This record gives sequence, structure tokens and C-alpha cells, in this order.
Amino acid sequence: MTFSCILASLVLAFATAHSVLAAATTASNRHVKCPTGQVTSNAACCALFPMVDKIQQDLFDGGECGEEAHSALRLSFHDAIGFSIHGGKGGGADGSILVFNSTELQFHANGGIDDITARQFPVFQELNLTAGDFVHLAAAVGTANCPGAPRLKYMFGRPPPKGPAHDLTVPEPTDSVTSILTRFADAGFSPKEAIALLSSHTIAAADVVDPTIPGTPFDSTVGTFDTQVFLEVLLKGSLFPGNGSQPGEVLSPLHGELRLQSDFALSRDPRTACFWQSMVNNQKSMMNQFHDAMAKMQVLGQDTSRLIDCSDVVPVPKPFNQNIKFPASFSKKDLQLTCKQIPFPNLATVRGPAPTIAPVPGS
Ligand code: HEM
Ligand SMILES: *[C@@H]1O[C@H](CO)[C@@H](O)[C@H](O)[C@H]1NC(C)=O
Ligand SMILES: *[C@@H]1O[C@H](CO)[C@@H](O)[C@H](O)[C@H]1NC(C)=O
Ligand SMILES: *[C@@H]1O[C@H](CO)[C@@H](O)[C@H](O)[C@H]1NC(C)=O
Repeated sequence: MTFSCILASLVLAFATAHSVLAAATTASNRHVKCPTGQVTSNAACCALFPMVDKIQQDLFDGGECGEEAHSALRLSFHDAIGFSIHGGKGGGADGSILVFNSTELQFHANGGIDDITARQFPVFQELNLTAGDFVHLAAAVGTANCPGAPRLKYMFGRPPPKGPAHDLTVPEPTDSVTSILTRFADAGFSPKEAIALLSSHTIAAADVVDPTIPGTPFDSTVGTFDTQVFLEVLLKGSLFPGNGSQPGEVLSPLHGELRLQSDFALSRDPRTACFWQSMVNNQKSMMNQFHDAMAKMQVLGQDTSRLIDCSDVVPVPKPFNQNIKFPASFSKKDLQLTCKQIPFPNLATVRGPAPTIAPVPGS
């Protein structure tokens, strides 16, 4: 055998061994077929598929983008934001809001949260998940029920929470923009990421801001994860939907719609107005920015090197690929824009008379 021939067979042997190894890695880490039939990247995720089915059945009425899905997303925020990059405010995305509910539900900003923790508790007890894994799986699955939502990342393996979060970590609608951005920065989020997270208010309604009108939505398409809330908050307000002005509430443009003072202020403040406006009718960008900010939020305070990426257990949301529209009777002339740097998109108007927005059922 010549030297070059030896070299060639060595190379061949090495290449073969390498590709066998690569194939084995692919088989075990990329495409595991679970006993239940689904395919996932890691065998440890297989146990989650039946749990996702149970969450859909027992919590989300078989997979709806309803009141429980909306509140599951809100709960993930109120749980995770109990955290500071400087320490001493809680364990972040650890499920402490569920386990230490007798402490955390006393916090003023958690008004109305008891409905969803009470709904989630029995389902949590039936599943073999830590509270953090459960709260953040329920949020990812509930959000996926809303057309237009990004498929959120899901990391698996959070340890049980050690204790309750501290009070005053959850921003309130009465807070100033400075105080809100300072709190987000303390938890590790930029102003841009804070606005990205507020995309969630496109599937949101208020029960306790004005308790006389529970389930009053923040935009006219509360069952769709579109960019409509970014548009509607920029319209001139003219009315209060319920019993006059309440703390944290400002004038709304539509009957049956409630506007938070915090959304109003962030949409017009020089620090955030252009980010806010850039979301309008920019579905792809909104989805990407919300996806990334949520991926960060849902592992706050966690040792990510010990978590497994089980994102492929999250259902694939239905797409939303229409242009959004001004609500009937509204147009460009009704906008209050403070961002001068970027043009406002041209949008059509829904036909007909100004609508009255219906409350979210079951609120
Ligand atoms: C400036 C920060 C924020 C403030 C001041 C704020 C405030 C509020 C308020 C007052 C409500 C209505 C509660 C009620 O009366 O029932 C609400 C609802 C909601 N919030 Fe926020 N929020 C903020 C950020 C976020 C973030 C970051 C998320 C998620 C990532 C989120 C998700 C939701 C959802 C989904 C609802 C609707 C819950 C439902 O319809 O049951 N919010 N928010
Ligand atoms: C609070 O936690 C307890 C268990 O410690 C549970 O039985 C109860 O249902 C929870 N209540 C609410 C409102 O979350
Ligand atoms: C519960 O979950 C743990 C950790 O994911 C796992 O090791 C264990 O086998 C599970 N037990 C049951 C009964 O499913
Ligand atoms: C309406 O609001 C007023 C003052 O804001 C309050 O005194 C009154 O109790 C409220 N009515 C109801 C039905 O909640």
C-alpha cells in the first residue's frame, strides 16, 4: 500500500465514522419520535405532549384564544418580572406566583390574577411539572391559540420556586413612563423590549380597572394576535367605556374599549413612541420582537444551561397575514402621533358606523 493510499483509506475511515456519529446525533437530538407519535428534538420533551393536550382541554376550552389564554400570558409576566438583575426581588420565571399565591396575590398589581391562578392550580397539581415549567408552558400554549401569535420558545427544567417574589415588581397602569422603563431595566429589559412585550395587550382585556365593565378589551380584535392595539392606542380618545374615569385609565376612542394610561403614555413618550409606531401593521417584526423578548422573560432568573429546549411541544399558531385597518369611522386624521422620524403606514378603514366592542366572554 502506498503512503497516499493509506492516507486515503484513513480519510475514508474517519469520514465514515464521522458521518455515522453525525447520524446518531441527529437521531437522538434532532428527531426523536415519541411513543405518542410526535417528533421532537429531545427525548425529554416527549412527556410534555400529553400535558399540552391536557392544558388545552382543561384550561383553554379545547384550544381557544379566550379569557384563560389571555390571563395565562399575563400570569407569565407577573410571575417572571419578580426579579432584578441586581438581586433581591425574587426568582423570576419560577412559578412562585402559583405556589406562594397567598403572598403574591396580595400585591396591588396582581388584582384579578386570582381568577387564573385558581383555574390553573388543579391542572398544575395533576401534572408532573414544577410550577415554573407549568406557568410558562401554559402561557406559550395559550398564546399559540391566538391567530397571528409567534410560536413561543419553551425551555423545560426549572427547579421549584424558593420563595415569593417581592412586592412592587409588577408595573401598574398609573406608573410614569420613567418608572415603568426603570423597572423593566432593573429586570434586564431595554425600552424596545418593553414595547415588544406589550404586544401582548393585543389579546388583552381588563376586569378590575373598572370593575363595572369586566372583560373590556384594549383593542377591537382581542381574539387575534395582530398589531391592532398599537394602532388603536394612537387614536384620539373621547370617552370612558364604563363608570367614568378610573385610576390607570384614560380616554378611549371606542365604546366597549378600555385604554390604559401606561399604554397611552408609552405610545407618545419620546423614548418609546417610534418603537410603538413601528409596530403598526408590521406583523412579522412584531412577532419576531415579541418572540425574542418573551424567550428572555420566560427564563428570567433561571440557569439556562440546565434547561432543555422543548419549543416543538408548543402548537403552531394560525397565521394572520392581512393588513390591519382603522376601526369603522376612523382614519389618519384621528391619529395623535409624536414620532416624526418614520412615516405612518397607509391603512384602509373598516366600512360602516363606529363599532361598540364586545366584552370578552367568561370575564
Ligand atoms: C407597562 C407594563 C404593563 C402594565 C402597566 C400592564 C397593565 C395591565 C392591566 C392594568 C391589565 C388589566 C388587568 C385587569 O383589570 O384585569 C392588563 C392586562 C393584561 N396584560 Fe398587561 N401590563 C403591562 C405589561 C404586560 C406584559 C409585559 C404582558 C405580557 C408579556 C402583559 C399581558 C397582559 C395580558 C395578556 C392582559 C389581559 C389579561 C386578560 O385579558 O385576562 N402585560 N395589563
Ligand atoms: C393558592 O394555593 C393553594 C395551595 O397552596 C391552592 O389550594 C389554591 O387553590 C390557590 N388559590 C389561588 C387563588 O390561586
Ligand atoms: C416526573 O418528572 C421528572 C422530571 O422531569 C421525571 O424524572 C419523572 O420520571 C417524572 N415522573 C412521572 C411519574 O412521570
Ligand atoms: C362609579 O364611580 C363613582 C366615583 O368614581 C363611585 O363612587 C361609584 O361607586 C361607582 N359606581 C359603581 C356602580 O361602581
